[in-house]
Amino acid sequence: EQPIRVGLMGLGTVGSSVVQLLEANQEDLFHRSGKQIVVEKVLVKHPEKDRSIQVPSECLTDQSDEILKNERIDLVIEVMGGIEPARSYILEALKHGKHVITANKDLMALHGEEILSVATEKGCDVFYEASVAGGIPVLRALTEGLSSDRVTKIVGIVNGTTNYILSEMLNKEAPFEKALAQAQELGYAEADPTADVEGLDAARKVAILATLGFRTRVSLNEVFIRGIGSVTLEDVRFAMQLGYILKLVGIAQRDEDKVEASVQPVLLPEAHPLASVNGVFNAVYIYGEAVGETMFYGPGAGGMPTATAVVADLVTAIHNIGMGVSGQKVVRPYQETVLKSSKE
Ligand code: NDP
Ligand code: HSE
Repeated sequence: EQPIRVGLMGLGTVGSSVVQLLEANQEDLFHRSGKQIVVEKVLVKHPEKDRSIQVPSECLTDQSDEILKNERIDLVIEVMGGIEPARSYILEALKHGKHVITANKDLMALHGEEILSVATEKGCDVFYEASVAGGIPVLRALTEGLSSDRVTKIVGIVNGTTNYILSEMLNKEAPFEKALAQAQELGYAEADPTADVEGLDAARKVAILATLGFRTRVSLNEVFIRGIGSVTLEDVRFAMQLGYILKLVGIAQRDEDKVEASVQPVLLPEAHPLASVNGVFNAVYIYGEAVGETMFYGPGAGGMPTATAVVADLVTAIHNIGMGVSGQKVVRPYQETVLKSSKE
């Protein structure tokens, strides 16, 4: 039987962990997917760089066409980050009939509609579970587990870097800059950590969650955004003395015909379930009219947790290929209803 041949774009924090996870769980993944998974080529920016992970030198390339135009490759995993060239590469991969898995929330929040429509046109899958809340399978929860329900509210801590910073400030009195440097060192932060600190990364995730949860298109510019850039150690300490914990919280809610979405620092009473979410952990509260309250909790960033989401998408994509049901036929992401933004 033919293996599934993967082109991996990016071999940083997430890409390296994907390679490690595929290797560590090779046998189980074979049983679960029914296919042997082979990483055929790996695209990087600096092939000469010293790496913690070894891949055969003939696999490494800085030429995207070695993946995009490679007829042996069935599926592309994009874990490079950023809008361009990631967007063009993904569109090109789809045009060549390759399925795509991405962890890129910047891209999916801004260009998700375009990418998903090209995917449908080409009969290909695009999965992006890793783009929101790292290792927590919350997109699957929204699109599959809660697909029978009408979700009206999503509230969460969806950025690991800022939650790590606020927790370090609270529990270890670490200054903001030191805590941010540690989050970068641990591989949690974005290439430009301003996106984390200023709430943009969380806003991208809120836009994706609301889009899938409410089955409508919620764009990034509909999300009100305020970050934690101006939060000081004194603010965190003072809030605690009054019995509150400062958290960066994303909220999306819908009523009959409108949707409201925001990301901002919020003072939570100490007993609030989100107040005890510490470090790189994320938590997402989802309210559905039939199910009531649900809560999803787990590591929101970091190589291995994120790789679990990427590889789970890979297993689903392989199943879909095997059943001949690719091209968003299994999960219709949105456009069931049209809601007005409260910012309009
Ligand atoms: P890194 O910066 O650690 O790695 C990026 C990788 O992509 C590097 O291997 C780099 O090559 C390669 N790369 C970047 N630009 C190009 C380019 N133009 N051409 C070819 N290769 C390129 O990023 P992360 O692994 O942290 O993040 C990757 C993606 O995953 C991002 O979209 C991020 O938002 C998302 N994500 C990250 C999480 C995390 O915890 N880190 C969690 C969830 C999602 P080289 O090594 O040669 O420099
Ligand atoms: N920079 C992101 C975070 C990575 O800290 O949450 C996970 O999406």
